[in-house]
Amino acid sequence: MKVTSNTTVKDTIKLLQITDTHLFEAEDGSLLSVCTNESFKAVVDAVQQDNFAFEAILATGDISQDHTDASYQRFAEGILPLQKPCYWLPGNHDYKPSMSTVLPSEQIVQVEHELLGDSWQMILLDSQVEGVPHGRLSPQQLELLDTKLAEYPERHTLVLLHHHSLLVGSAWLDQHTLKDADQFWQVVERHTNVRAILCGHVHQDMHKVHKGASVIATPSTCVQFKPNSDDFALDSCSPGWRELELHADGSFDTRVKRLEEGLFSPNFDSNGY
Ligand SMILES: [Fe+2]
Repeated sequence: MKVTSNTTVKDTIKLLQITDTHLFEAEDGSLLSVCTNESFKAVVDAVQQDNFAFEAILATGDISQDHTDASYQRFAEGILPLQKPCYWLPGNHDYKPSMSTVLPSEQIVQVEHELLGDSWQMILLDSQVEGVPHGRLSPQQLELLDTKLAEYPERHTLVLLHHHSLLVGSAWLDQHTLKDADQFWQVVERHTNVRAILCGHVHQDMHKVHKGASVIATPSTCVQFKPNSDDFALDSCSPGWRELELHADGSFDTRVKRLEEGLFSPNFDSNGY
């Protein structure tokens, strides 16, 4: 599958990021008192009501919270109404055998690399380390990144991975960061074509620039974590998603959208996740 640019806005690729849905087998499964299926469905409904003509969906990990086939089925059925191809990669909570058997469909694809229109490419990395919350890129994943950046030097690049490659400033979350971020950045620095690095995992809106590239994190479709808090803390912001518009000159516009304020409030007395 090759994502082609929107015909109304020449050479601009529009993408939608939905991340950290944390779905369960049970329809009423909840995380910190938020029913993740309900908040996910509310986000999909809100996206449908919006007029953002995206060409593809990016699901950047933690699709499931309980490792069940049913939770992945729930995701696949949930995004059907959006009628656009969905690219996924695993987060620390995901179970790759189930993702690989349940998720692939005409709509949901797993690829490591995709050309986007005439000017961009995206590289999807697997940063999961089985059984632990932190991330790490294998030598093979670093090689994939290096190879594709070298193979298409003229293409602006969007890199996707679940874990944050730059600390967010919250000690409890930053202990679960990408542990080999130094090696990742060494590869990025060997090239000049990485424009943006998009992740999930931290359940908050972040946009920082590092070594010439934007490092962007996006709210979860369920609970939100409070920025700049050393101890575990929930945020009162509503579930959200992200829009991206990639322009032919390598610039891009992006914005976070959220559900109406006050919806899907978590249990603020929780002291862990
Ligand atoms: Fe995560």
